[in-house]
Amino acid sequence: MTLILGLESSCDDSAAALVTGDRQVLAQAVVGQNSAHQPYGGVVPEIAARAHVEVLPGLIRQVLDEAGVVVADLDAVAATAGPGLIGGVMVGLLAGKGLALAGGKPLIAVNHLEGHALSPRLTEEDLGFPYLLLLASGGHCQLLEVRGVGRYRRLATTIDDAAGEAFDKAAKLLGLPYPGGPAIETLAAEGSPTAVPLPRPLLGSGEPHFSFAGLKSAVQRAVASGAYRPADIAASFQQAVVDCLVDRTRRALEQGGAPTLVVAGGVAANGAIRGALQRVAEQEGRRFAAPPGWLCTDNAVMIAWAGAERLAMGLTDPLDVPARARWPLDAAAGAVRGAGVKA
Ligand code: KG4
Ligand code: ZN
Repeated sequence: MTLILGLESSCDDSAAALVTGDRQVLAQAVVGQNSAHQPYGGVVPEIAARAHVEVLPGLIRQVLDEAGVVVADLDAVAATAGPGLIGGVMVGLLAGKGLALAGGKPLIAVNHLEGHALSPRLTEEDLGFPYLLLLASGGHCQLLEVRGVGRYRRLATTIDDAAGEAFDKAAKLLGLPYPGGPAIETLAAEGSPTAVPLPRPLLGSGEPHFSFAGLKSAVQRAVASGAYRPADIAASFQQAVVDCLVDRTRRALEQGGAPTLVVAGGVAANGAIRGALQRVAEQEGRRFAAPPGWLCTDNAVMIAWAGAERLAMGLTDPLDVPARARWPLDAAAGAVRGAGVKA
């Protein structure tokens, strides 16, 4: 069975993992940088890149030792080559290139978004193509038709903020720590989702896209008014995001024939969002799949698994493959009016 080492360093998590082609996770390690970025309320690219330099080699050593394997045992080295914060991407990709070069192993340059997109196929063996994917993370909010490895059609994207970004910004307004998603979810459990009137941008709209900037501004006004409990704002905000994600996803399901709805990316770790999307899938007569929470937020298992899927198809990359700050899954999809500049 093939054995793949995966490396992840595109944002604020350094991670390494060993995964086999028959879906066994032999070892994995993730080290986040939350405390380093917390004083700034967001990820500082330069700090992130430096931290990857310090942490990643130790994680590689750790997973190899834990699994009792050496570089010579690997069939390939898979490293995130983008999209993301370019300094960090370069650190992980170059580490992967070094190992591939020294060990005489194939290199696989993995698109971080493909890591998220294929992750449910690691835990759900019978999940076949095509499926409709809601990819919701700190940098992205897209609906994609996943037709196969390397074959994506973008159906919708955000015209401003990503869903995770909205959680992070709302959390900052509420004085909660970064990353905001888990903090809001915890606080929301003590609040009422109907207490604060908040907008649902583009809800019921004829166009397919997402928008969260107006929601963030409304949260800002609600906080400034002093009229609401923070827990009620958190719960009402989370409900507004749920409603937007559900509405846009339902629209895509109604228009497309994919038999399965999949949600992945850091925001898919949210219980309210998973539950609501599962209900939509049931109502629309589709199967529902979501990776376990630990596989939703950034990790190297999904990068190793995407590497395994690509290796099985003979898709490897030359050692001069570039690191890419921007790297859309669907290269043919154009920019959307009003869309931000995030990778
Ligand atoms: O996929 P990910 O780990 O990194 C990116 O590739 O962006 O996603 C991180 C994002 C952050 O914005 C974080 O606030 C959000 O996912 N997130 C959540 C939850 N856990 C992480 N959002 C809502 N609820 C959660 N439980
Ligand atoms: Zn991610």
